[in-house]
Amino acid sequence: MARLALTTPLYYVNGLPHVGSAYTTMVADAIARFHRLRGDDVLFITGTDEHGQKIQRTAEAKAIPPQEHCDQIAAEFDRLWHLLSISYDRFSRTTNPRHLAIVKDFFQRVWDNGDIYEGQQQGWYCVGCETFYDETELLEGHVCATHLKPCEWRDEPNYFFRLSRYQAALEAHYAAQPAFIQPDFRRNEVLNFVQQGLKDFSISRANVTWGIPLPNDPSQTLYVWFDALLGYVTALLDPEAEASLDNALATWWPIHTHLIGKDILRFHAVYWPAMLLSARLPLPQRVFGHGFLTKDGQKMGKSLGNVLDPFALAERYGADAVRYYFLKEIELGRDGDFNESRFVQIVNADLANDLGNLLNRTLNMLKKYCDYVVPQVEIAADHPLRSRAETLPNTVAAAYQSLRISEAAGAILELVQAGNRYLDVAAPWTAYKNGDQVTVAVSLYSVLESVRLAALLLSPITPSLSERILNQLGYTAWSWEQTTWGHLPSGALAQPPQPVFPRLELATV
Ligand code: MSP
Repeated sequence: MARLALTTPLYYVNGLPHVGSAYTTMVADAIARFHRLRGDDVLFITGTDEHGQKIQRTAEAKAIPPQEHCDQIAAEFDRLWHLLSISYDRFSRTTNPRHLAIVKDFFQRVWDNGDIYEGQQQGWYCVGCETFYDETELLEGHVCATHLKPCEWRDEPNYFFRLSRYQAALEAHYAAQPAFIQPDFRRNEVLNFVQQGLKDFSISRANVTWGIPLPNDPSQTLYVWFDALLGYVTALLDPEAEASLDNALATWWPIHTHLIGKDILRFHAVYWPAMLLSARLPLPQRVFGHGFLTKDGQKMGKSLGNVLDPFALAERYGADAVRYYFLKEIELGRDGDFNESRFVQIVNADLANDLGNLLNRTLNMLKKYCDYVVPQVEIAADHPLRSRAETLPNTVAAAYQSLRISEAAGAILELVQAGNRYLDVAAPWTAYKNGDQVTVAVSLYSVLESVRLAALLLSPITPSLSERILNQLGYTAWSWEQTTWGHLPSGALAQPPQPVFPRLELATV
């Protein structure tokens, strides 16, 4: 049994959650659920990043106090996570007063190590990204390539973090731990960036009031990224424990997996480990940068008016359908597209037809031919479903473990499809007519057992659907040990079958 902490980014509260944040969170949730199913001790962390100029300006525009604004948006994130069946253990908010103590302790360690100094910051700043850019990184007119808005010129005294001091140590770490940054092609991007030479970066702001005052100079506030990354540490604090860095690090540190989007990889794979090295802390095991989502092949954007609303999606189609589509259809790490009719088609084909109908058909036959009693029967080791089902758990576990989630889902679906094909050939309805009870028993048992296994292995992705299936087969609790073939006990089923997954109807706008 392993103990592991796993994080999503802490999302900015400048606006309502978008489908990008939902995507990262659904992926992280599937990983967390997989590890729980395996029996691991999991701490699944999500939360919100609430300080900085971007949030300050958003609250000003709404003419409400920033904390009130943050409370409203954080509540919306939480609401979305419930709609999407997100089983987080901690919701870390950077305006939580306990976070202050962690920041203070951490800052002190870095300070004591001589890595913070005063300097003059001059440069182009994108408030949307909360990042300074070199001129060479910007479009004409000092326009930010992500936000397509002009950057602002800054020239102010700031405190700097000595990032340059950690170049060699970071490079040594990347070489010694090739799995630290994933996927591989993203790792190369980071290595190239670091190779060009790391520059110190400013970690305070002179003119931002909505932030944590610098412990050594309260006339400045802490740069929002320095503050936000430490939100991961605050999240580790036991709710009962006194807020101190030592307490936060006591049980769950180092974090096992940071799941993020590719746009914030530099912060997690370069700045963050350097900050941790400075504080003399062990580094997280893995930082995984996933790709970006497009809609109907186009970049999503407010100006294009094609932003996909995750609330509407979850409310209309349900968590299982939304989760399944994004996790099965997109290879984690690559960019992926959402198209509503394709979504409906895939979910109906896989979950309503292949999986749901297979169970329903088989249970109806069980009622007719066996009076709801799961037959007692020995299935040969080379039976087409048994032989497939016996290797599946290992394949699926390896895929989940290395975050090849769509591969895990694909392998599970293949068993379901094999179940459908097998049933058509075995034709228990004919065997029943011919009085061949053995064929009836073998075919019904082997299909039900395959459906049970598929539902169990799919439960990190489609938790409610899996629960409904397993409940119908008489299970109220499940664990990885039950992935062995033959676990389904013979005997009477308690309840008549209910359809487990109603077909989706495409929304007509
Ligand atoms: N506040 C920082 C993270 C601090 S972590 C200590 C931040 N927040 S964010 O709200 O902007 O992050 C959003 C997350 O959603 C990121 O992982 C980002 O990559 C992801 N996405 C934003 N747009 C996206 C798509 N169009 N597609 C997929 N994910 C995208 O950054």
